[in-house]
Amino acid sequence: MKEAARQARADSHLVGLVPTMGALHEGHLSLVRRAKQECSRVYASLFVNPKQFGPNEDFAKYPRAFESDAAQFAELGVDALFAPPPEEIYPTGFSTHVNVDGISDRLEGRSRPGHFRGVATVVLKLFEITQPDFAYFGRKDAQQVAAIQRMVRDLNLSVQIVVCPIVREPDGLALSSRNAYLSAGERRAATVLHRTLVAARTTIAAGTKDALEIQTAMRAVFETEPLAKLDYAEIVFADNFEAALRVSRTCYVVVAAYLGKTRLLDNMMVEVAESNPAELVYHL
Ligand code: PAJ
Repeated sequence: MKEAARQARADSHLVGLVPTMGALHEGHLSLVRRAKQECSRVYASLFVNPKQFGPNEDFAKYPRAFESDAAQFAELGVDALFAPPPEEIYPTGFSTHVNVDGISDRLEGRSRPGHFRGVATVVLKLFEITQPDFAYFGRKDAQQVAAIQRMVRDLNLSVQIVVCPIVREPDGLALSSRNAYLSAGERRAATVLHRTLVAARTTIAAGTKDALEIQTAMRAVFETEPLAKLDYAEIVFADNFEAALRVSRTCYVVVAAYLGKTRLLDNMMVEVAESNPAELVYHL
């Protein structure tokens, strides 16, 4: 992979990387399509990264579908698929990790200790191996994007991070490889995350910027769904994921919940125009 990457750079290609853990869906494919539009060489990686799963998480049963994933990448014109075995990424004696302090301790990081350390470590390695000009990530995992952007700035990496919109099912559920775990009843109930974000949007659009008021409106909608258990529903600043008391600058409304044993995430980005704080743009 490093040799191919070196050759692509020598040939002055614009290289795009799409990192994934496989079990592909339209969300992943949207990143590949975007990369194909913008780059003359597109690499995808497929690596179910053991370091980003906690000891009681779903690493062993995470869906794996290598053959069909490889075929889908090929069909979209991916120039190389990098799918290393774990021992190649983490050989015996591996002991260097990337910690993105602050962001990694909140929300997802608090619920999943060590998760962002695992993500940042593997993503830095993938960048180093594939030497991309652009790397494509989904806004679905907004805190992951914030952690990676922080790492890129802090470590002076040359890659540019491209953030792509959330791809959803027609009923609003964000696509996720983990949706495959849901029973029929849980799948129906899972739309509650999106409905909770819509409630936040309605509340903000009615003129409320106070985070506590927005959270109250979100909880009221969330609690109508008995099959779902709320982990968090919060408003945070997009760059550092610190709690926002009021919606301002660029914020995320983030929600995480359990449907049975399956943990799902969703978010809405809200941009407040600097020149006119009454002007808001919602990205759901
Ligand atoms: P994975 O969950 O496979 O996701 C790969 C990429 O697809 C991520 O950037 C994720 O945000 C994006 N994605 C997932 N669902 C999406 C959706 N509904 N709409 C748009 N984009 C979506 O995220 C990871 O893998 C890993 O943490 C990784 C970055 C590969 C590091 O191991």
